[in-house]
Amino acid sequence: MAKLTLDRILQSQGFGTRKHCRELVRAGEVRVHGETIADAAASFDADGLHFEVFGETWTFRRHLYLALDKPANYECSRKPSHHPGVLTLLPEQFAWRDVQPIGRLDHDTTGLLLLSDDGAFIHAQSSPRRHVPKIYVATTHAPVTAELVAHLEAGVQLHDEPAPLAGKARQLGEHAIELVLEEGKYHQVKRMLAAAGNHCVALRRVAIGGLTLEGLGLGEGEWCYLDEEALGLLAERGS
Ligand code: URA
Repeated sequence: MAKLTLDRILQSQGFGTRKHCRELVRAGEVRVHGETIADAAASFDADGLHFEVFGETWTFRRHLYLALDKPANYECSRKPSHHPGVLTLLPEQFAWRDVQPIGRLDHDTTGLLLLSDDGAFIHAQSSPRRHVPKIYVATTHAPVTAELVAHLEAGVQLHDEPAPLAGKARQLGEHAIELVLEEGKYHQVKRMLAAAGNHCVALRRVAIGGLTLEGLGLGEGEWCYLDEEALGLLAERGS
């Protein structure tokens, strides 16, 4: 990548308008290679550049690929109405970079949510033709039965769907079931459980493809960058 001036680097990383970034530099708030840089027009090879703003270290990233363990009572919508938006759980520069959730989890659903500012990546991940399994763990109101598992696996007809929807299901406990779905229809898990005669009282997404919350070591409300290896796991279809 060609060299970029420091104000452009900061702007691209979400530190505000170019004018604001210049002011940050002039105020002595930006360090590169351990040295305070006062000239906003100083240029650096941006790839992999480590820099500090207000004493916090950042690495230049052309795009952001993130995983968040979404807590309950946060909305994925861009204009949240009843609860705070998930972007409030991330550093504020990320919102400046137009990071967006990829797909949605309901406000009361917890678990793995991907976010990015890379339009092509968002598009590819959201494509309905992309049959990547998403693994959910649901807590049910009524006990999980062998009939419920069989019903979900055989397929349940939802009102507005042309054909029954099915998923691999596995009982995890008296009131807990794992459901693996390849589509991402509106309220799909909750509606499938309701259509199969039970009721979902809590829902958590634990994996997308081969990428699991456990593998990422995330706890509720925590986020991390996804590296090449983690992004590769997203394409895994499981067994
Ligand atoms: N299915 C649901 O019902 N809700 C979610 O948030 C995700 C899948």
